[in-house]
Amino acid sequence: MRQINLLKLLVIAASLLIVSPTFAKPGDVDRGKGIYDKRCTWCHGDEGDGTGAAEERLNPPPRDFTSGNYKIKTTAFDEMIPNDEDVFRMIRDGMPGTAMPGWSSLLSEQDMWDLVAYVKVFAEFEEAPEQQVDYGTPVASSPESIAQGKELFEDGDRCVECHGKTGKGSAIKRLKGDVSERTWPRNLTKPWTFRGSNDPKDIFTRISTGIAGTEMPSFADPKSKKMLSIKERWHVANYVASLAKTQKVVNAENTVIKADMLEGDLLPDSPDDERWEQTIPTTFLLVPQIIGEERFFKPSNDTITVRALYNDKAIAMLMEWDDRTKSIPGDERAEKIADKPIQEDGVAVQLPVEIPKKMQKPYFGMGDASRPVNIWHWKSGTKDTAETVAMINSRGFQDIEARDAAEVGLQAKGSYKDGTWRVVMVRPLTTADPENDLQFVEGRFIPVAFAAWDGSNNSEKGSRHTMTTWYWLLLKPSTGAMPIIMALVIAGLFAGALLWWARSAAGGRKPQADSKEGTA
Ligand code: HEC
Ligand code: HEC
Repeated sequence: MRQINLLKLLVIAASLLIVSPTFAKPGDVDRGKGIYDKRCTWCHGDEGDGTGAAEERLNPPPRDFTSGNYKIKTTAFDEMIPNDEDVFRMIRDGMPGTAMPGWSSLLSEQDMWDLVAYVKVFAEFEEAPEQQVDYGTPVASSPESIAQGKELFEDGDRCVECHGKTGKGSAIKRLKGDVSERTWPRNLTKPWTFRGSNDPKDIFTRISTGIAGTEMPSFADPKSKKMLSIKERWHVANYVASLAKTQKVVNAENTVIKADMLEGDLLPDSPDDERWEQTIPTTFLLVPQIIGEERFFKPSNDTITVRALYNDKAIAMLMEWDDRTKSIPGDERAEKIADKPIQEDGVAVQLPVEIPKKMQKPYFGMGDASRPVNIWHWKSGTKDTAETVAMINSRGFQDIEARDAAEVGLQAKGSYKDGTWRVVMVRPLTTADPENDLQFVEGRFIPVAFAAWDGSNNSEKGSRHTMTTWYWLLLKPSTGAMPIIMALVIAGLFAGALLWWARSAAGGRKPQADSKEGTA
């Protein structure tokens, strides 16, 4: 009996293994409509045309299913119809970097197959697709393959044209999507923003099919001058996968920026100072500002990395974030790429005027009446004016007071390179006005939050910006004198132990030596 049961189980398990990944259960269109009307219309609209209530708040916009464009598919570039498995995967897993959620925790497999059947109806996809992506013989990643991929990536500006030389998407042209909405090339160093993962096979597929409804072209199309062979596409895929950032990624556990003490030295006031490299970076998520009066939903900046150093006089903070555009009002090239009207790029640091007693933070948006905040706001400048740093005190959105940054001793300096801004801000630890300025002290957890503006994206300005939640800044107590004291203590103990050992060893053999040593 037992054996038969086991055998049965094995057969079932084997059939599951073989069948389920490739076997698309025929979905039920009517059931699919029921689920769609309940779960999907809010974004995709009753008619599937992408005009749900949330549409104007979303970037990228919800897909218009009547267009028949599917971004993540494994059918060939000249085949419009996706495989059912492709649509199923996006419904199950969602599309990172967009509002499209994954549904696997709310819906059953059958529900999702029913949805696949229903959304295909909008584009009148009735037949099964024929042409599939040809993967040939996959090329495993290796330093050689990556090097060849890099060459092909850059050759004739093949990918660089849109994704930039470093892959960060530093734009040199303006791109549009299928509903003529503004789109940005992917930052290839941030795999968590890929709609369909940065596994080399997925990247190979995207390069082969292109991304429908966007300007990302197919490199398998023989009509393209920039076409790549199968082997070349594997090299490029391996190269792109190798671009993934390993440092400066968000780690939810890192909530404290630890500022190291620089004994006696001058603080680095330039973003290019090499000493920054020795500090520990902490990276935070930037989310659109939606609590103030004018809410903002279509951000382009998504993370910011912060480092800090201090000495006995001042504190310096380095803010670093990928921004595809250097936004310089008045500059012809910058204006061409930007949404109109172009604004300056910017970054701001928000700190409480008074360090809270317990680990309590000021009100999230710009402080409140009882817990005011200092805001240091750097702007990148225009064609005719230099960068600036302003200082304001705020007790909430309605009560904002401009201060004199120079008087407080606040300075800032920025540099833009290869799609990344790096801005240093320096301020004295203490000021003459403790009523209105934060007085920095060692060893206390100081709440700190950041905001960033991309002046080329949706004219980000004022309350249209991205921001972090509150984190902590800690000036690590100076350990300057400690190591010396400790070294002396340890040396003393060690010397004492040696002496004791020498005495007792000597004592065992020649007791008379004792008195000699004692008098020496
Ligand atoms: C909160 C808004 C939202 C909801 C709710 C939502 N979607 Fe989406 N969906 C999006 C957005 C935005 C995109 C486009 C992402 C892009 O273009 O990169 C998208 C894209 C898609 C795609 C296209 C996949 C591809 O490869 O291009 C499918 C299929 C899809 N959604 C199905 C569904 C289904 C089915 C539901 C309901 C179960 C649903 N969506 C609910 C926002 C939403
Ligand atoms: C004409 C501009 C253009 C060129 C050339 C281009 N891309 Fe793209 N690429 C884009 C855009 C735009 C997107 C984002 C599409 C979207 O909005 O989903 C993108 C997205 C991607 C993605 C993200 C896939 C995902 O799952 O999200 C990868 C990977 C990629 N491109 C690789 C490449 C490689 C490799 C090359 C060169 C072989 C290349 N691209 C050439 C415009 C371009």
